[in-house]
Amino acid sequence: MKTALEEIRQRAKSALETAADTAAVEELRVKLMGKKGELTAILKQMGRLSAEERPVIGQLANEVREDIEGHIRQKLEELGQAALLQRLAAESIDVTMPGKKQPVGRPHPLTRVLDEIKEIFLGMGFDCVEGPEVETDYYNFEALNIPKNHPARDTQDTFFISDEIVLRSQTSPVQVRTMEQRKPPIRIIAPGRVYRSDAVDATHSPLFHQIEGLVVDKGVTMADLKGTLAIFAKLLYGGDVQVRFRPHHFQFTEPSAEMDSMCHSCGGKGCRLCKGEGWIELLGCGMVHPKVLRGCGIDPDEYSGFAFGMGLERVVMRRYNIDDLRLFYENDLRFLSQF
Ligand code: DAH
Repeated sequence: MKTALEEIRQRAKSALETAADTAAVEELRVKLMGKKGELTAILKQMGRLSAEERPVIGQLANEVREDIEGHIRQKLEELGQAALLQRLAAESIDVTMPGKKQPVGRPHPLTRVLDEIKEIFLGMGFDCVEGPEVETDYYNFEALNIPKNHPARDTQDTFFISDEIVLRSQTSPVQVRTMEQRKPPIRIIAPGRVYRSDAVDATHSPLFHQIEGLVVDKGVTMADLKGTLAIFAKLLYGGDVQVRFRPHHFQFTEPSAEMDSMCHSCGGKGCRLCKGEGWIELLGCGMVHPKVLRGCGIDPDEYSGFAFGMGLERVVMRRYNIDDLRLFYENDLRFLSQF
């Protein structure tokens, strides 16, 4: 029995040395010390021994068992360590490798300049409001003193959805909506999309953007209009830009004007940008027509106001020297990433 025990001990030792993984170790453990294992089988025969032999063999058997268990534990530890090292080697990260660059988006040039314009007017105490793009004939035309069949309608090639519903051809209807909802003093700008049935080319698009402005209060005069818009032009184009007002006609203002700013590219000498004029048209404006005020429930004997409207695309094209309007809508990253 003694030799059998020693033999098991030796076999266990050499088998453990060559065991390649934890599964092999476990297999060996079951084979020797499991319920039907070899060592267990020997221990079961202890009863047959004499009273003198029993404690000696018993002690040896315990020694062998502990010895094997010790070796198994050690082997499992070694295997665990090796596996860890292997994983560390396989999963190692080179922290000095350059990272992957994530492409970052940026505001569209139209958004950028609109934000600037909003800042300027918010700084002068204006609110920014919005109106619907699908509009009624009443708000888009009638309430702005443009009756049905009036020739002024021909200047705006309007998309009609039905006899009474249009895609707004201007942001001016927001003036009317605002005056119906608010009591003076009113100071608002209303930016947004407008639609006209124009064929697409370098300077035309069926969808473009306007920014409307409206001020209504007691005692508002043409001087307020000129002062406000001249300051706006200075803040938009910088320092000493000059402006001039030319008489014009709009149905919903009286008197009406167009404001030009001195060409910021040539300083008024005349260049390609201003087509040799020295001046660039910036916006339409005027004193709100008494008929429009009255139609919105505002007494023109008590209140007066001025309004203005400008095309956003044109302002941005001049600012960045962009010569084709289509670039704004094509989403070509080579264009957009320049801003
Ligand atoms: N709505 C005009 C247009 O689309 C622009 C305009 C002119 C707006 C004069 C105004 C204004 O508010 O006072 O041509």
